[in-house]
Amino acid sequence: MKITSTQKILGAQVEGLDLSLALSEAQVASLITALGTHGVLEFTNQTLTTAQLKAFSERFGELYVSPGGRAQAEGFPEVMILSNMVQDGKPLGIGDAGQSWHTDMSYSNMIAFANVLHGTVIPQRDGKPLGATQFRNTQAVYNDIPQELKERLANKTITHDFNKFWDMMRSRPGSVRPALSDEEKRKRPPVDHPIFLTHPITRQKVLYANPGYAMKINELSQQESDEILEYLFALQMQDKYLYTYHWEKDSLLMWDNIGTMHNAVADYGPDEHRYIRRCQVMATHFYGDQGTLAPIFF
Ligand code: OGA
Ligand code: MN
Repeated sequence: MKITSTQKILGAQVEGLDLSLALSEAQVASLITALGTHGVLEFTNQTLTTAQLKAFSERFGELYVSPGGRAQAEGFPEVMILSNMVQDGKPLGIGDAGQSWHTDMSYSNMIAFANVLHGTVIPQRDGKPLGATQFRNTQAVYNDIPQELKERLANKTITHDFNKFWDMMRSRPGSVRPALSDEEKRKRPPVDHPIFLTHPITRQKVLYANPGYAMKINELSQQESDEILEYLFALQMQDKYLYTYHWEKDSLLMWDNIGTMHNAVADYGPDEHRYIRRCQVMATHFYGDQGTLAPIFF
């Protein structure tokens, strides 16, 4: 296996692996280390069945099954379909997933470790791929927070709420997202996490405050919290933390959900088709206690 950094703020290409075959323990360990180091791993020319995608993904932690049951692959509740394609009048998947900056599952007690996405249909225009996935390096963001603010915010916690992202997406013109039922809301109540997490692989601190789900810094007044979150969200938006991944057909993309946040670029139309299968890997291998998120170092 050969891992080559993009030489940018995030990202590395991984060559020499056929992900349809079972990896050795040593290969899995190398990929975990690389994920911590590079944040985003890119594998090209992978032909995978849904079962093979699931088998690869679950080597890294428990796979999440969305309680809504939306857009699950036939026979595989752990595999979600991201797609704007429609067949016989039925959407094949979720068309607007992730189209704003966020960190997956920050609204859950057990947070996400990684995502694994395999793209089989990639929208194109004038020979260029559309529907890129963008990332920001939250480890680099942490390092740049002024020392005084780091000290002031140490040991503070943030409330994260699933509803925030859902409602924001629903309010967009043309959204087909339904209102969440009370039952769905009950299944995903708001949760607290430390504002700074220690990354279980790199052991570096990261800013864990994404605009998609972060609601409030609990220990501060509403006004102070609003001001500081606005400052932190703006800080993260600087170009120097940004990495953009351009999809290729049959590529597999794996990213670290602790050291990065991400955004799906919505620059393609309904007739420009995208079809991606996805597994959400939870951080079950890295956190012992769901309540406190004490990291188990790799
Ligand atoms: C996700 C997500 C980004 C994309 O799968 O969690 O945000 O580009 N997807 O599809
Ligand atoms: Mn996402």
